Amino acid sequence: MSNTLELAAAQLPALQAAEAKLLLGTYERNPILFVGGEGVHLIDEQGNRYLDLLSGIGVNALGYGHPAVVNTISEQSKKLIHISNLFFHAGQADLAARLTEMTGMDRAFFSNSGTEAWEAALKLARLYAGKQRASGKKIGTKFLALDHSFHGRTMGSVATTEKEKYRAPFMPVMPGVDFAPFNDVAALRAAFSDEYCAICLEAIQGEGGIRPVSQEFVDTARELTRSTGALLIIDEIQSGLGRTGKWCAYQHYGIQPDITTLAKPLAGGLPLGAMLCTEAVASAMEPGLHGTTFGGGPLACAVAINVIDTLKRDDMLAHIQDVGGYFRGQLARLAAQHSSVVAGARGLGLMLAMELRSADVAKSVAAAMMERRILINRTSETVLRFLPPYILGKTHVDLAITALDDILARHATAEGGLVDEDIPTGGTQIGR
Ligand SMILES: Cc1ncc(COP(=O)(O)O)c(C=O)c1O
Repeated sequence: MSNTLELAAAQLPALQAAEAKLLLGTYERNPILFVGGEGVHLIDEQGNRYLDLLSGIGVNALGYGHPAVVNTISEQSKKLIHISNLFFHAGQADLAARLTEMTGMDRAFFSNSGTEAWEAALKLARLYAGKQRASGKKIGTKFLALDHSFHGRTMGSVATTEKEKYRAPFMPVMPGVDFAPFNDVAALRAAFSDEYCAICLEAIQGEGGIRPVSQEFVDTARELTRSTGALLIIDEIQSGLGRTGKWCAYQHYGIQPDITTLAKPLAGGLPLGAMLCTEAVASAMEPGLHGTTFGGGPLACAVAINVIDTLKRDDMLAHIQDVGGYFRGQLARLAAQHSSVVAGARGLGLMLAMELRSADVAKSVAAAMMERRILINRTSETVLRFLPPYILGKTHVDLAITALDDILARHATAEGGLVDEDIPTGGTQIGR
């Protein structure tokens, strides 16, 4: 059989068979073949429309077919798509000016993905610690990350990712990483020392189940790192760029890290990541020590600039707070109503979760939503995750809530109110 697919005849079963034969088995895909999208909807090969509450895992902030993305791709691609980082193009400084202002940082490095932005952060932390050691300061090379963390799939990112299933099969990973229990202030104080060059955390853990760190925990991490000259690195790849109703989730806590990382929604669906840092930390970098062929190319930067300008022009942070607050309230109402199967609802802005009492029920609810053509996903076994496009409206929320209500009611009846043991409780509320 030829490896070439006749695209015109690429119906789902043919694609499934071809992928099963040709692709590395990294994903168990849902059996849907999407061919288009419009606004907050995806369209499958038969023309069915799906309400998308996942946005390509938190990427398609402006939904599908938005003019800011489509027109910029069309115009910029005619001018320049790629030139490498050996030459100037107009996009990087323009984009960096916006991102540094939004994040409170001084300098940017552009990558192609979240994990590469995180790798840049780890490498820069090591460089900065080396610079401090050279000037006589006592500071080590280790990283202190958190339980349930997820920072990506490349080797450094995997080393700082606590989730066992992502890290353990690839041992030995980068040495010098320890993990502290999530939101345990006393344990963080006990674990930290001048052996560490950085504390690494997500302000709201994404893959870990939409769990916000507590105010006291993040304040302690900030205080401890300042006391030794170590860095506080906050991963905003999933929670950043407006997702929680502020540009960065750490801004809800009134703190400023030394390094932050962005990616997913940055270029409206094109691959682009960014590592942002303070001037002091940036001073450790020299030409040749880090780089990328594709990162920060003219096309991705032009789209990102227009995505950001659109978010600002349309006052999207206020919209996210409004619709997200409404969505969260509705999820909380369902959680109370179906408490025999639901453990709780949590999240900020349009980064939301409903925790069920059983992994099997969570799996079944996500599948039932998909059958009703509403896309969500499940993370950390029991958690239903909602990362919709920012352009979501309250009528879309109502549609999803009605479907969820019905599905949960069926499960509550079927389960007869049975509750699993060992259910983790909901995430801590942000205190400020
Ligand atoms: C918090 C966080 N960090 C890093 C990553 C890795 O990003 P990417 O998949 O673009 O490499 C993700 C992806 O889900 C993430 O949620």
